[in-house]
Amino acid sequence: MERVKSLQNQLVNYLDIEAKSIGQTAPFNLYQPIDYTLNMGGKRLRPVMVLLAAELFGGKAEDAMNTALAVEIFHNFTLLHDDIMDNADMRRNKPSVHKKYNENIAILSGDAMSIMAYRYLLKTKLEKQSEILSLFTETAIEVCEGQQYDMDFENRRDVTVDEYLKMIRLKTAVLLACSFKMGALAANATAKDAALIYDFGINLGLAFQLQDDLLDVYADQEKFGKRIGGDIIANKKTFLLINALDRAKSGDKEVLMSWLNKETFDQDKKIAAVKKIYENTEVKTISENAITAYYDKAVESLKNISLDESKKTDLLLLAQSIMKREH
Ligand code: IPE
Ligand code: IPE
Ligand code: MG
Ligand code: MG
Ligand code: MG
Repeated sequence: MERVKSLQNQLVNYLDIEAKSIGQTAPFNLYQPIDYTLNMGGKRLRPVMVLLAAELFGGKAEDAMNTALAVEIFHNFTLLHDDIMDNADMRRNKPSVHKKYNENIAILSGDAMSIMAYRYLLKTKLEKQSEILSLFTETAIEVCEGQQYDMDFENRRDVTVDEYLKMIRLKTAVLLACSFKMGALAANATAKDAALIYDFGINLGLAFQLQDDLLDVYADQEKFGKRIGGDIIANKKTFLLINALDRAKSGDKEVLMSWLNKETFDQDKKIAAVKKIYENTEVKTISENAITAYYDKAVESLKNISLDESKKTDLLLLAQSIMKREH
């Protein structure tokens, strides 16, 4: 894990320098929210995935640094818009950008960040530059598709587990997979290995979003940094809710449906009522089992990569630390 920590520190140093210089640029209402966002912390998982994958295939982390910055800035852009769309006022224990500034500012600063991601990608002179750019572009579009499914599902009551899995693959897993693959491509990995590390990222990403949904209900708010119960308030079709709808006995099912149909309600009462039904239907355990299953699948893909197992230790440690996360 030492290597993961050291790459994280390296990345954060670069990011701090970039954020500071961005924040000092006019117009300040465009650039300061970007500095604010990039300085709010966050786990920095995706850029570390880029750097670790680059090193795994014999590249230098330094050569993949701009690619890593690009993916972190893109990720943070998605959060600015996501918090508007999800009505989320808190992120990383601080006011989200649309709250601290305003919605218009969060929209435009977010737009600028998504374009800045390309600026960083274009700075690199990698052999597989054009492949990296295409992968990133396709991934960015997929993230938008996933985000729209997520929003559309708020208004539906019949979302299936398969539809949910497709939605989280698009909104979350592909960006993790893309991060690993971009790192691999930066180090000129073979197409076969690049595909395997992409698969690793998809399965880890599915586990990651399932876990995010679980933490949204059961985490300690102080540690999680986001409002607990936000998904319940917004009628998000999470794995928990879909399974609860499927498993609830008649009385509970009616209660659950009535909460989903309420336009105005006491937020804490709704959260408590839905949590009670989650308990009755044992969906927490079902979700934990699904997380473990996707994690095991991820590890399987990693095993198939044609490198000495000892080289994969850091990636495995990163994956394990993600599984144990509380935020
Ligand atoms: C939040 O991602 C959005 C999801 C895909 C669940 P992270 O949990 O990686 O957020 P930060 O960057 O660490 O805050
Ligand atoms: C994350 O979905 C997906 C994107 C940001 C594209 P969530 O809406 O669950 O993310 P959080 O929980 O707000 O971080
Ligand atoms: Mg969302
Ligand atoms: Mg959200
Ligand atoms: Mg969430």
